[in-house]
Amino acid sequence: MARGAHSGKILKPQSIGLIRAGDELKRMSTGIADLDMVLGGGILPGGVVLLAGQPGIGKSTLLLQVTSAIAASQPVLYASGEESAGQVKLRAARLGADSGDDLAFIASTSADDIAATIRSGTYKLVIIDSIQTLSLDEITSAPGTVSQITNSANVIIRAAKSADAAVILVGHVTKEGSIAGPKVLEHLVDVVLQFEGDRYGGFKVVRAIKNRYGSTSEAAIFEMSDNGLQVVENPSAALLAERHNSDGSVVLATLEGNRPILVEIQALVNSTNFGYPKRTASGFDINRLNLLIAVLEKRTKLNLSDKDIYINVVGGLRLQDPAADLAVAMAIASAAAGKRMDDGLVVFGEVGLGGEIRSVTHVDRRIAEAKKLGFTKAIAPKQSKDTFIKGVSDLRHALIDYLKS
Ligand code: TYD
Ligand code: MG
Repeated sequence: MARGAHSGKILKPQSIGLIRAGDELKRMSTGIADLDMVLGGGILPGGVVLLAGQPGIGKSTLLLQVTSAIAASQPVLYASGEESAGQVKLRAARLGADSGDDLAFIASTSADDIAATIRSGTYKLVIIDSIQTLSLDEITSAPGTVSQITNSANVIIRAAKSADAAVILVGHVTKEGSIAGPKVLEHLVDVVLQFEGDRYGGFKVVRAIKNRYGSTSEAAIFEMSDNGLQVVENPSAALLAERHNSDGSVVLATLEGNRPILVEIQALVNSTNFGYPKRTASGFDINRLNLLIAVLEKRTKLNLSDKDIYINVVGGLRLQDPAADLAVAMAIASAAAGKRMDDGLVVFGEVGLGGEIRSVTHVDRRIAEAKKLGFTKAIAPKQSKDTFIKGVSDLRHALIDYLKS
């Protein structure tokens, strides 16, 4: 007989109407309104959040700011396996985050000890910086290996749920963008926040790529200052402040989460000196760039086969918006032809393989932002009746109509 055919007990499911919803519990505010929004309204007790990002992007800084805000009303523990108490104290002093009595610090790399501390129920929020430094006694492999990370995370998560404490795990991300070691961490936790951007200046964006308790369409935009991360109140104005319109420069009306942002896209097109033409992109997917170049060559009369092409998204933003296609394509065409675009122009639209311009989401928000910053027209898909939009249906006509000057 198959094992288990007679074992196991009958479960007693509960009527869903009688179950207490998570949201009835009080969420903790991080003290940063935009970040609360990304989290779906703050940090949920018992929730486990993974904050992933490249080394040096500002994860520890952000979490120290958050913990000091929360420690004003609840006991918080900051556990670090990377920095000493002295180092963290120095940073906290710099951030003005060192006054609260309710913010405790421990330097530890033991997942067992930290889990036991969480289970004690003393702390409402526990930060673990970082998950890669933790290890469990019973596992012999080195910290940072897949088995150490997943098993440590599991022990911590169980402790968090049993004590109803919120936990934020810091996870370092490799250059390629995967959370170093196990992707499986993403499945274990409730919320995955991604911290992206340029390490050396520029904007840094926090967005949720998974959220069991909220949407994944919000984003918080920060800039690093001398005293920590500051929310950028008007990103479009900041991004366009240093723009001077020349050939290859196009303003894209994009969205970061639900928020409209105007961002400059720059293209540089040079003759290839020898061998294979070079294509590089900063802030834009290189495969998408190659595809757009192929479409430009096939559907317009532009010859790019002997040209090096460079794309730069100004301000350190990494575009994931399909509506960036048309702006990138027009920037390349503008640079290749040496003709600049009208000053009052913004661009957005998805480009299909046939060279057709496809409709995109949130046209109203994109237009509203462009109007607010003094732009006068948008080259965009023919999907809206607004006269602000100069509708285009294919790439060839977009270039013929708007690159003649
Ligand atoms: P950090 O938060 O340590 O990054 P992570 O934990 O993601 O590795 O720090 C990011 C960088 O920010 C670091 O190079 C120092 C700098 N920084 C500032 O510019 N201003 C500040 O107030 C602080 C605390 C750090
Ligand atoms: Mg750090």
